[in-house]
Amino acid sequence: MLGEDVQDQLRPVDHPRRQGVLQVALLRRRQLVLDDQRLGSGLLVGHLELLEFALADVGARIRAATVLNEPCDGLHAGRTGEFLELGELVAGIRALGDDSHDEAALGGGSRSRIGLSVRHQVIMTAVWSVSLTPVPLSPVLAEQSTYPFVRLEEAKLRKAAEGVRLFDFGMGDPRGVPDDSIRRALADALEDATGYPAAVGLPELRAAVAAWLERRFGVVVDPDAEVIPTYGSKEAIFTLAQVIVDRAGGKDLVVVPDPGYPVYERGALFAGAQVTSVPLLAQNGFLPDLDAVPDETWERAAIVWVNYPNNPTAATAPLGFFERLAELAERFEFLLASDEAYSELWYDEPPPSALQAGRRGVVAFNTLSKRSSMTGYRCGFVAGDEQVVAALQKFRPGMGTAPQTFVQRAAVVAWEDEAHVERIRERYRRKRDLFLDLFHAKRIGVPGNAATMYLWVEVPDGEGSEAFAGRLLDRGVVVAPGSYLGPAGEGYVRLALVPSEDECLAAIEILDELL
Ligand SMILES: Cc1ncc(COP(=O)(O)O)c(C=O)c1O
Repeated sequence: MLGEDVQDQLRPVDHPRRQGVLQVALLRRRQLVLDDQRLGSGLLVGHLELLEFALADVGARIRAATVLNEPCDGLHAGRTGEFLELGELVAGIRALGDDSHDEAALGGGSRSRIGLSVRHQVIMTAVWSVSLTPVPLSPVLAEQSTYPFVRLEEAKLRKAAEGVRLFDFGMGDPRGVPDDSIRRALADALEDATGYPAAVGLPELRAAVAAWLERRFGVVVDPDAEVIPTYGSKEAIFTLAQVIVDRAGGKDLVVVPDPGYPVYERGALFAGAQVTSVPLLAQNGFLPDLDAVPDETWERAAIVWVNYPNNPTAATAPLGFFERLAELAERFEFLLASDEAYSELWYDEPPPSALQAGRRGVVAFNTLSKRSSMTGYRCGFVAGDEQVVAALQKFRPGMGTAPQTFVQRAAVVAWEDEAHVERIRERYRRKRDLFLDLFHAKRIGVPGNAATMYLWVEVPDGEGSEAFAGRLLDRGVVVAPGSYLGPAGEGYVRLALVPSEDECLAAIEILDELL
């Protein structure tokens, strides 16, 4: 999901090996050329070097980017269609190897050309190790679509190849390094790196989180019973449904926002749950209309996900919204799961936590990724309902995900310090204001700008999100089409204010000309 996740979940092409393949395939556009004779002998001896330097005219052209995307990433094939296509390609090559007259196998002429990358050793090794015998895959995995962000990534690479300078506001991955004090704490703790970190986390970290929750939200939690550190928050979000959903007991539904962070849905599907989405619309301040949800949905709901400050709409929720949902959670016995990853990136007033509405039936997920620009450290927490935390304490040792001890020690320093967070907020604020001035001058609405690192910008004149984003990309300004984040995101684009201030100014100059 693609992620940043969105965000890194929203970073489909961030695997360096895959990236390398894509770059070669898309940027350099060099092609692997196969010649019947060389191919035959190459296959017989399994000597893939032979595949590269032959002649060619026409032949099957397989889109390297999509075909190779999954197999090059550790051979996990989420996209069966493309995997089948790849299988056909392999079968075709094998057929040619067996009989060099069988040109139809590749749909080509007397010599066949396959539009694969020159990084043939990587690719062909990957191709070669794909067995043609079908491997049973989880149907949930097989059915999942590729992140649409893959298209954006491909388009970016094409632009870069044309020599266009890119200003990337696409992914919400903070750039820049964490504060010195945090990095020092990490380095100082390296000697601690022996032994498995316990899944319940260091007591010092749980205490630091509990103290922060009290300072920040006035919420008092028991650090041993109501807090558990997590490896960033993404994995904990993904696995929550496995801990909560009870299909046999009729609690088989997970409610997710649209548009929204895709991990809520993906995690729920892997847990065998049904998923229903609630739209976040401008007329409701990008809050779900709770009155529009039928009682039977609440009754079947095991988990209701909310995310404020919100990715992607940059909206915040008032405490009253959480209170209403906490009441519903108690009445209908579902878990209110509040993803508060962006709670510290605010501009006017610090937004509330769902935990302020009560802890019974409520859990909050938070992380140092956005607050302290520590995405690479992987450290977050779940806090709230004691029964859920107890369930996580039972579940998590089985999956083995606890942050490394030295990361936890650095996290203690990060949760205890607010000065660096204030500096980070200030940087986002300056960049936000630059863009708001521009959009205001151009009479383009930015209904989402209250918090987070995002701006949720209306697409002007009824143009589609993807078309508008494509137009900006032509000039090098990368934004995420809102429709990539869910159908209700159509009509918007999302800007992640992660480039430097200088880059923002350069992008603003371009947009000033273009809009
Ligand atoms: C809404 C939301 N929640 C959670 C996360 C997960 O962040 P992390 O796993 O880095 O804590 C992200 C990442 O982009 C996000 O956008």
